[in-house]
Amino acid sequence: MTRHFLRDDDLSPAEQTAILDRAEALKADRWSERPLAGPQTVAVIFDKSSTRTRVSFAVGIADLGGQPLILETASSQLGGKETPGDTARVLERQVAAIVWRTYAQAGLEEMAHGAMVPVINALSDDFHPCQLLADLLTIREKKGTLAGLTVAFVGDGRCNMAQSYLLAGATAGMHVRIGAPAEFAPDAEVVRDAQARAAETGGSITVVTDAAEAVRGADVVVTDTWVSMGKESEKAYRVETFGSYKVDQALMDQSKSDAIFLHCLPADRGYEVEADVIDGPRSVIWDEAENRLHAQKALLAWILEQEG
Ligand code: CP
Ligand code: NVA
Repeated sequence: MTRHFLRDDDLSPAEQTAILDRAEALKADRWSERPLAGPQTVAVIFDKSSTRTRVSFAVGIADLGGQPLILETASSQLGGKETPGDTARVLERQVAAIVWRTYAQAGLEEMAHGAMVPVINALSDDFHPCQLLADLLTIREKKGTLAGLTVAFVGDGRCNMAQSYLLAGATAGMHVRIGAPAEFAPDAEVVRDAQARAAETGGSITVVTDAAEAVRGADVVVTDTWVSMGKESEKAYRVETFGSYKVDQALMDQSKSDAIFLHCLPADRGYEVEADVIDGPRSVIWDEAENRLHAQKALLAWILEQEG
């Protein structure tokens, strides 16, 4: 059966662990798997800007023996001129998988509906599940485990990273805390889905409006830009609203003394995080960015096997 990866809880806890284990093995032996040898092509489509996702998918597909076909929506028929469903009908006869960075989650669902090849979410307004595989791999490398750890995300609780932390962290059995202004709280349905997953895994979900309360005693502190792609017109309001959610040394001091700091990048130093934190000894951002490569290779290798 064709599997898609549109949101973090599309993977069961066991599947998430298997992919992280495989990513670890691929990191240790980079060219050990060649499932795309032929070479087969993987389409990677961008409606929004990207550095890490573009590079890590292109390099990872090549590492797996395949070839990436990078498409910009603006210079394709997707978008105004052709529906995601019609685009999928064309691509699925020629490529092994479709990776898409877009705005609406509904577009990804339409792309995946009935598609004969896997569709992978490379970031939507609601979720960034490939980034979370890299983040979990990084946390596991640094802490030796995931289940039972407390991760605090502070800032825009409604953004793709916060919502993916809820679902992926719950799947991993983590205690996920979100510290965000009430008007930027995560979507209630996503919180419910994360709570249901946490009930299976022994994790938990906490949503608070106080950043210090979210971070207190945490093993992992995470933030993201206050102005996600597509929200640029709201920048002034967001900078004002998120001002007290900046990750600085004083906030980090609320976490455990061995807590690590993650940020998916790109970062706005001086806004959501101070330079002495993101460039300091607790920050693991460069390992996190590298782990996009290993995690996505493992995801691709695994998802292509599911087709039978
Ligand atoms: N973290 C991340 O997805 O980065 P890019 O926008 O550069 O792909
Ligand atoms: N929340 C950010 C993530 C960038 C990788 C955005 O959507 O712009």
